[in-house]
Amino acid sequence: MAKDYYKGFAECYHRHFEVNSRGDIRFYTELARQAGGKVLEIGCGTGRTLIPSARAGASVTGMDISENMLSYCRKLLSEEAQEVQKRVELISGNMADFSMKDRYRLITTPFRPFQHLATVEEQLSALKCIREHLEDKGTFILDIFDPDMEILTDYDRAEEFGEEPPFLLSDGTEVTVSYRTPSVDTVNQIAHCEMIFSKVFPDGTRRRDVQEFIMRYTFRWEAEHLLHRGGFRVVKVMGGYEGEPAGAGDLVFFCEKLHST
Ligand SMILES: C[S@@+](CC[C@H](N)C(=O)[O-])C[C@H]1O[C@@H](n2cnc3c(N)ncnc32)[C@H](O)[C@@H]1O
Repeated sequence: MAKDYYKGFAECYHRHFEVNSRGDIRFYTELARQAGGKVLEIGCGTGRTLIPSARAGASVTGMDISENMLSYCRKLLSEEAQEVQKRVELISGNMADFSMKDRYRLITTPFRPFQHLATVEEQLSALKCIREHLEDKGTFILDIFDPDMEILTDYDRAEEFGEEPPFLLSDGTEVTVSYRTPSVDTVNQIAHCEMIFSKVFPDGTRRRDVQEFIMRYTFRWEAEHLLHRGGFRVVKVMGGYEGEPAGAGDLVFFCEKLHST
């Protein structure tokens, strides 16, 4: 069952990736700007890539399962110019089960929302919905991480890792993010993950908030088979957002509809 893993974490999430950039905004903004038709961003979250795409002139519909992420996105959008706001529609929805009247030239999944689906059935259901909403000549971008066997088989997972530069929330709280992967279910290919927000409030008190979530990992060739089953042909694969070859950490699939299904 699809789940909202982001309740109460929207501002922390957004500020963290604002300060510690993922380097994917230009890639998504350019794709959306050049799409020449309507764009659907699945798992749009706080609008990290959606709002820059709308600023660049794209008409974008953002869908997300998390009300908290959507409401933060609405707040950020309300601070944008009227013409940018007019180009955006935000809807609450589950990528594994949605139906809308519009069809889209470009459908994207920036920063791995697809990996929050826990089962192959849900993944196939999502691909079916995405295919139904894609124009015949449209492009679907699947964005997932490239599973790293060393990380997945590291049994010292209690360790926190990845402490990055701190950032401030609107109330002055200082936050530092770190991560933990307490367990990996290698049978079902599910990593149980934690994003840990270590906070220092303006009065000096400290607290750690832990966002628990799952990431279902899918290997490159498995993803190609899955996409084929879902009615897509993979036309290009990149290992990052600058055209790196596969093997560089991310997997970005450019897909078209397979008309023979
Ligand atoms: C890592 S965040 C990425 C957010 C945004 N795309 C970005 O690049 O910052 C994953 C997003 O996917 C959303 N999500 C997870 N499962 C979903 C589902 N079944 N349907 C729609 N959105 C989902 C989450 O609520 C979250 O906002």
